[in-house]
Amino acid sequence: MHNAAFQALGIDAQYEAKDVPPEQLLTALEELRQSETWGINLSIPHKETVLEHLDSVSQEAKIIGAVNTIVVKNGLLEGHNTDAYGFMRSLEEAAISVKDSRILILGAGGAARAVAYGLKQAGANVQIWNRSHERARALATEFDLQLIETPTLPASIRTAHGLINTTSVGLEQPDISPIATELQPKEWVCDIVYRPLETTFLKNARESNLQVVDGLGMLVHQGAKAFELWTGQSPDTTLMRRVALSKL
Ligand code: ATR
Repeated sequence: MHNAAFQALGIDAQYEAKDVPPEQLLTALEELRQSETWGINLSIPHKETVLEHLDSVSQEAKIIGAVNTIVVKNGLLEGHNTDAYGFMRSLEEAAISVKDSRILILGAGGAARAVAYGLKQAGANVQIWNRSHERARALATEFDLQLIETPTLPASIRTAHGLINTTSVGLEQPDISPIATELQPKEWVCDIVYRPLETTFLKNARESNLQVVDGLGMLVHQGAKAFELWTGQSPDTTLMRRVALSKL
């Protein structure tokens, strides 16, 4: 999607994937400083560990505790997080208003942190549940979220306006959902997983006539924001979405 957007804007640049094992992160960052690269995206397992090796980190990325985008400027590395933005844009595109609505997040990993940050900033009433209770408790305390214990999870789901899956359950596992089929919130369901685009979690919600938001919007908009940080230009997100969709 980035390469299509570069081409459409006549920008002479190329986006490519690179595997960097954890023990080679520092070397890769050093190479990046010396290179002509405008910037990169990072994924698992580097998003959190990279923070301490950067020259500056945006306030948002600091609070979220994860960097998914680096901008290289004069050999200095600037860390950003565009996941919260991407996630919130995807809800906005679905015409979902979150202010004062009750929203339950499943999961407490890096993705949950970005989602929780975006929702809190937008004035939502955020609840959190995680398989490992301690991790959920820590995040609830840090971000001032309501902690949901497993025995009250069904009741919380049923009374929530929106339910978001940020766990990796369903990622390349077509038949698994993190919750039972009959458990549904009042209005909408979102899964940030985009492979497959329709997870079992979303399919169950769609069959219960709820509004569903898949992970494509977040993927596209976190990418578009990163593109803007690297180039100073706004990419065509409709084009990016079409290209991303064709590859999924
Ligand atoms: P990410 O940065 O993508 O969020 P992560 O930090 O590894 O990745 O977090 C993965 C999330 O998926 C966690 O909330 C994890 O729950 P635990 O904290 O209990 O490990 C959740 N997860 C993964 N597999 C799960 C499963 N089988 N059932 C429920 N939750 C699961």
